[in-house]
Amino acid sequence: MSSDPAAPSSEGSTRGLILGIESSCDETAAAVVERGCRQLSSVVASQMATHAPFGGVVPELASREHLRNIVPVVRGALSAAKVGFRDLDAVAVTEGPGLAGALLVGITYAKTLAFALGRPLLAVNHLEGHIHAVLLQQSERHGERVPLPALALVVSGGHTHLYLARQQGDTWHYRNIGRTVDDAAGEAFDKVAKLLGLPYPGGPWIDALAAHGSPNAVPFAFSQIKAKAHRRQDPESRQESLAAETLFSFSGIKTAVLRYVEKHAMHASIDMRRQALAAISYLTAPVALQFCDRQTLDLIASFQHAVVENLKRRTFAAAEHYGVASLLICGGVAANSELRASLTAEAEARGLPIAFPSPALATDNAAMIAAAAWPKLVARDFAPLNISAQPNLRLGVTEAVTAGTASYG
Ligand code: KG4
Ligand code: ZN
Repeated sequence: MSSDPAAPSSEGSTRGLILGIESSCDETAAAVVERGCRQLSSVVASQMATHAPFGGVVPELASREHLRNIVPVVRGALSAAKVGFRDLDAVAVTEGPGLAGALLVGITYAKTLAFALGRPLLAVNHLEGHIHAVLLQQSERHGERVPLPALALVVSGGHTHLYLARQQGDTWHYRNIGRTVDDAAGEAFDKVAKLLGLPYPGGPWIDALAAHGSPNAVPFAFSQIKAKAHRRQDPESRQESLAAETLFSFSGIKTAVLRYVEKHAMHASIDMRRQALAAISYLTAPVALQFCDRQTLDLIASFQHAVVENLKRRTFAAAEHYGVASLLICGGVAANSELRASLTAEAEARGLPIAFPSPALATDNAAMIAAAAWPKLVARDFAPLNISAQPNLRLGVTEAVTAGTASYG
């Protein structure tokens, strides 16, 4: 058995072409990636307009939109890559985590296609996909491999996780050393934006508007989360305090923003903003800015700054503790400009290589799924055709940490 699927295959293109399919949340995406390191195409059908009126993703609508989009999106990805179905060497699909009904659409399509073509099916964890978005782009841009072990911060609408990532032969190994105990960071961005009358998803709006406010106007304090780590293999006492350092909590800051809004009687102006923005068919950040007073802009800037500082502190504490060789920042929130600038400056000061995906590869896409699937194809780690959606799928080994809650000033 060869370790290179491209060489001995009597079928497919022998180019190592993987069709990736992603449908875990509100984006239907397909992409063709060559040997895990070169995007031939990446097509994303966003459902933002469908969910925006509800201020969040409606699972039933998401499934329906995926059903509607999956065939044209896959066709679009093949045609943009200038390949046909028979050129594919494998079909990769997101197995989880995500919305059950949404995942099922991609999985069912991928299974059927793999069966019909007689090609292997590869099941990919969405979070591993986000990590491979950065690795893919690093090899596309610089032709370089990221120094390992790496610490990956996966920070998106559904997740805030820290993973130690390393490679042994063709296989990647992950150790989950940090996570949120309540809301994900992106969720906090979305909820705070909604609270302030800004459109869904809120992250990009907060990002654009924060630049116009003062980040220190409203002091938001993240207190230490009480944590208890149960580690059998590494009983060092330092481990317990690190566990507390790598637990995130973002529901408290959302409540703190709400309290600020109530205390300063901002509801009436927020309602006016919400109605005014909803009536604008093509809303841009400069237009939204005109509907935000100084107090609101300061609140937005302070909120973003507090979240970014918190992510930064915990990420670098873990990086130092584990002595990692590089940092990978991925997921939708990795598109945030303050996060990118702040973490890049800190990494440079410490002489630690850091990499982010481009904004297009930071949010959900299928190129990252096809890229993450390549080592699995090489290792012939094929998925059976009876796989199903795994809404709560975890990535790698998880350290058991129990936590209390955090409070915020
Ligand atoms: O990775 P993603 O597309 O989907 C999930 O797997 O959750 O991430 C979407 C999240 C949303 O919460 C969105 O508000 C946030 O990423 N996001 C941002 C920015 N762009 C997207 N958050 C902060 N700043 C941004 N520029
Ligand atoms: Zn995602």
